[in-house]
Amino acid sequence: MVICYEQTMNKHCLKVMVCLSFNILLSIVLYWSLEDNDDIKKMNTLKPTNTESPIQRDTQSLYDGKYVYLLDFEKYKEEFPHLQDYKCKVITEPKELCGRTKSSMTLILAIKSHPDSFDRRHALRQTWAQPQVIENFHIKPAFLMASIENKIKMAKVEKEVSQYQDILQWDFTESHANLSLKEFCFLEWMTYNCVVDFVFKGDDDGFVYPPAIVKYLKRTPNVHQVCSWKSPQHLYSMNVLPTFVSGGGFIIPGILIPSLYRAATVLPVFPLDDVYFGFLAIKANVILKHGHGFYCFGLKFDACKYRNALIVHNIIENSAKGISPRTLLNVWGKVIKQKNCKEV
Ligand SMILES: *[C@@H]1O[C@H](CO)[C@@H](O)[C@H](O)[C@H]1NC(C)=O
Repeated sequence: MVICYEQTMNKHCLKVMVCLSFNILLSIVLYWSLEDNDDIKKMNTLKPTNTESPIQRDTQSLYDGKYVYLLDFEKYKEEFPHLQDYKCKVITEPKELCGRTKSSMTLILAIKSHPDSFDRRHALRQTWAQPQVIENFHIKPAFLMASIENKIKMAKVEKEVSQYQDILQWDFTESHANLSLKEFCFLEWMTYNCVVDFVFKGDDDGFVYPPAIVKYLKRTPNVHQVCSWKSPQHLYSMNVLPTFVSGGGFIIPGILIPSLYRAATVLPVFPLDDVYFGFLAIKANVILKHGHGFYCFGLKFDACKYRNALIVHNIIENSAKGISPRTLLNVWGKVIKQKNCKEV
């Protein structure tokens, strides 16, 4: 299925892959293609924004081409006041995460993680979330984390910070509703601190294969030609909320981060992070496009198929909730050893 909606920058087209699973969207790939080198030059002159945009949230009505969504600020303020009032306070930030050069690309892997998930992060650092260079792409992981009450565990996180410096942590409390604050604070931090080419956003319980993402991003320049309009009807028949990103992961071109952040400074903070991101995308006129090639329903293990997968959220035979650290290590070992796969 394909949806594509125009952005004001008409040269760019953005592709989003969305999968639906039991009426919950698991994954999206947002992807943007550069049409000509002028755009690349423009990006090189981009600097992080220095002047702070004031946060002035208010009632908003959003139109996605099919439906109007009314977000009544007073209601959100009443029901989720801390979400509307929270000012992002960074406790720790990764070093050397940002920056781009003319000859190389930077891809940040921004991974939502709970402070308590030590074993997941441990497995990720040995598998897909290690800093590395693939062709001309510099890949850098960053774990997005909030805080917990448990002082012992927080101290353990601090040790992790000094060892790996790949953690971006804020002082708000971890909770399901507060995940939207991770979206908001991440956009804010990126806008003021970071210029990169691409950001992959995902969870710490998936399988991601960075070489496949690089291959995918290198192939994108032609894809904008096949963009076309289609309504994601099946989304609305089951759910009255807009197009969402969730679970599995998605890729955002770095150049779109400031406009998504500006949208976040005026929109009420919605308590479901994937829906919240969907609203931000509408407000920012970001083009979303569905596609395929993203294994958000899960994928039966096959080393060659996994080498061509950008992300796999579940391994079919296993339980439905993400991939355990042990399974990830096991699968990763087999995937990197596998050679002689057919090119896809
Ligand atoms: C979200 O974080 C804020 C700030 O730390 C906290 O006051 C609030 O209780 C958290 N929300 C939930 C539902 O835990």
